[in-house]
Amino acid sequence: MLEVEDLTVEVEGKEIVHDISFNVDIGETLVLFGPNGSGKTTLLMAIMGLPRYRVTRGRIVFKGQDITQLPVDERAKMGIGILFQRPPVVRGVKMREIVRACLGGREDGAVIEQLAQKANMVEILDREVNYGFSGGEVKRSELLQLMAQSPEFVLLDEPDSGVDLVNISLVGEMINELLQKDRLRSRTNSGLLITHTGHILDYVDADRACVLLYGGIWCRGNPREILVSIKSHGYEGCAVCQK
Ligand SMILES: Nc1ncnc2c1ncn2[C@@H]1O[C@H](COP(=O)(O)OP(=O)(O)OP(=O)(O)O)[C@@H](O)[C@H]1O
Ligand SMILES: [Mg+2]
Repeated sequence: MLEVEDLTVEVEGKEIVHDISFNVDIGETLVLFGPNGSGKTTLLMAIMGLPRYRVTRGRIVFKGQDITQLPVDERAKMGIGILFQRPPVVRGVKMREIVRACLGGREDGAVIEQLAQKANMVEILDREVNYGFSGGEVKRSELLQLMAQSPEFVLLDEPDSGVDLVNISLVGEMINELLQKDRLRSRTNSGLLITHTGHILDYVDADRACVLLYGGIWCRGNPREILVSIKSHGYEGCAVCQK
């Protein structure tokens, strides 16, 4: 579904990640680990096509089409969605309005309410997007918008950070729905998930993982095994690991 080939990304003239290659199959969930500042968010932003993130080498292929030069809105229309690590506040736009836009502009109050209920965000529908939201509310606001957009490929940048113990299972349920985890054979949606703590992996099954270190992919393997290894040896351990 997604092929990233030898990708190098610059932000404001500075090279942040280099020669990154990986792919995500149809129905697969790939986890991306890496220390602070290793370039995880940069990589996701480049895949989504945010303008500040300039691809200087390599290419991104989605569903067989080279999307490296496509603008962000075209990528969204093709079925890529993102949960931002730090989404912006949008003053003057209510949650209800942005959810409606994500639904393709359909004026369906009942669908919006239903989705908001799933996200435990009914009371927040008439507030401005992310304005004054708590850390956990911001994550659920992002997931609510994604559920309305219903992308085939979802980029999840730390959906579990700042989420309390009760809401984490709700966040897990929403991600499972986005990734069609209830389906075994007919699953068509895929995802790329960033997590530091791995808490979300208690709720969402992931297939493979890779570690981003020094701006490149350092290691690939089983998500749980890699997490255990990082917890016991830190990323310093990854740097010297011979596996
Ligand atoms: N405009 C910029 N100029 C210089 N460096 C930048 C710029 N934007 C980002 N960076 C640097 O790029 C590096 C990678 O940032 P990125 O946000 O991708 O890391 P990350 O792996 O997502 O980290 P975290 O786990 O903290 O979210 C950081 O060191 C950051 O300071
Ligand atoms: Mg980040």
